[in-house]
Formats: sequence, structure tokens, C-alpha cells
Amino acid sequence: MNVHILSVVPELLESPLSHSILKRAHDKGLLNITVHQLRKWAVNEHGMVDDYQFGGGAGMVMMCEPIVKAIEELNQQYPFNEIIFLTPDGEVFNQGMANTLSLKENILLICGHYKGIDQRIRDHFVTKEISIGDFVLSGGELAAAVVVDAIGRLIPGVLNDETSALFDSFQDKLLAPPVFTRPEDFRGWKVPEILMSGDHKKIEEWRYEQALKRTEERRPDLLKD
Ligand code: ADE
Repeated sequence: MNVHILSVVPELLESPLSHSILKRAHDKGLLNITVHQLRKWAVNEHGMVDDYQFGGGAGMVMMCEPIVKAIEELNQQYPFNEIIFLTPDGEVFNQGMANTLSLKENILLICGHYKGIDQRIRDHFVTKEISIGDFVLSGGELAAAVVVDAIGRLIPGVLNDETSALFDSFQDKLLAPPVFTRPEDFRGWKVPEILMSGDHKKIEEWRYEQALKRTEERRPDLLKD
């Protein structure tokens, strides 16, 4: 999968996208992430990519020309299956969307800043608008990092044990059950006996019950349909 990201602060994305599982995905040749400095397509030699909004009001708006030029240039080499704009008024991101996006070949993410991007880019180029939650970040970069991380680990072959993603929270609309590791007894707090029993069928049943209980308590909305 090729992921391209347009940003005026590419530095914000360097570290989150180059460690751990995403690094493994890259090293295995399964995921290529390229972060582009949007100012490369600026409208003048001062690196201008934003301007005052028509109609007045505080805050700058990112202009059509730099973003559209970037899209058109990159699209020639990587015909994008999705052009995603990260924005608090987008569709709220979830595991289902991550699953769908993990199967795409080429995707482009646009990180907004200031008041956002000119509506015409959204109307004519963007195919999907994603929010990572009901709060406002200072730019789309951290949201893009969240989305790429969630997608990258789902690309077939990225996780060593393919089944481990299947048991993630949300993958089956249930939160994940509690997990424990050594020691068996820490300050008198013991690991549930069933996990030490070696009875895999019973352990699976216990995990399912715990997942269900946790979901009922914390996210009953997930169980509605
Ligand atoms: N940009 C600013 N806030 C955001 C959010 N909550 N989700 C996605 N992109 C954003």
C-alpha cells in the first residue's frame, strides 16, 4: 500500500510513522508512507499556501492551487483509490473504516491547518472526510498518524500472528478482554485461575464472557445491532 500525506508540518509525522509495527510494515515492503511538504506546490516564492477567507472572519484558509496541483501530480504516479481529508466535521473513524481502507492500493491524506481548506477541494477531489473524534486538533497531522497506524497494522502480512488483529477491541464489535502476564501473584493480586488451567476451550469461553461484560459496562452502544 502506498500512503501519501500532504502537510505543512511534515516533521509532526516523521516519528509516529517510523517505528514499531509501521516500521515492520515498511521493512516487509507492505507499506510505503511518503509525507510531502505542501509548500513545494506553493503559489509564490514565499511558500504561500493559505489566504484570508472570503466574507471576512478570523483565520486563514488553505488555498485550492497548492493542494490541487499536488493531488494532480501525485495522482499520475499513484492513482488514488481514496483522497481523504482529516477534519473534525468528517465521519467519525472506526475499526470498520480501518478494515476497508487497509485493502486499498494508493491513498492520499490531506492535513488541514488554520480554518481548513477551500470547500472546492472538498467538493471536487476529496472522496472521504474523516474525524478521529469530537474534539479539535490544531492540524490534521496527528489525526493522519492515528488513521495510518490503524490501517497499517491491518494490511495482510504486517502482524506476525495474523490472528492477533482478529481479537482486537472492536474487530468483532466487542472490547478486548483483560490480559495478564508474569508473575502469577503480584503483591497478592492473583491472575484468574482459569488462565492457568491449560484448558483452552474454557479459556476462550472466559475471554468471550469478559469481553462481553466489559462491552456491556463500558460501551453498550456497540451491542445495539
Ligand atoms: N483536524 C482537527 N481536528 C481533527 C479531528 N478531530 N479529526 C480529524 N482531523 C482533525
